[in-house]
Amino acid sequence: MVCLGNICRSPLTQRILPSKIKKNSFIDSARTASYHIGRSPDPRSILAAKKKGIDISNYKARKLIKEDFKKFDFIYVMDNSNFENVTSMADSKEERDKVSLIHPLKKEVPDPYYGEKKDFKVCYSILKNACNKIVLDLNL
Ligand code: 4NP
Repeated sequence: MVCLGNICRSPLTQRILPSKIKKNSFIDSARTASYHIGRSPDPRSILAAKKKGIDISNYKARKLIKEDFKKFDFIYVMDNSNFENVTSMADSKEERDKVSLIHPLKKEVPDPYYGEKKDFKVCYSILKNACNKIVLDLNL
């Protein structure tokens, strides 16, 4: 699960998805940007998740690295900019093909960082639907 900052969108999916799956899977999230590594999730994301019974408060942001393309079978990104940044790190077609937009309709998940509390609520809802679709698609 990858977004620009790894503090608003991707940490949500990293905790929402495991709450829905039955199979043993390793799920992690990362950011494409180099700044603010180790930062905790945005308080507005923490709150939006908490309202749904999901705790993301102890997550720490990390940067996507090339090894992730080997370690993970699927890499989900939030928007077209993430898609460009992530696919540009891939070493092969096989690695590039692991990358896709997470939105169930393959649209962009709007970045709520410069938005308001309600934008985080919308973001949570989109990502919850996205995780439901992943569970169905991958039979998790
Ligand atoms: P995210 O949101 O990519 O969903 O984590 C952002 C977080 C931080 C920044 C931008 C987007 N930033 O510019 O610091």
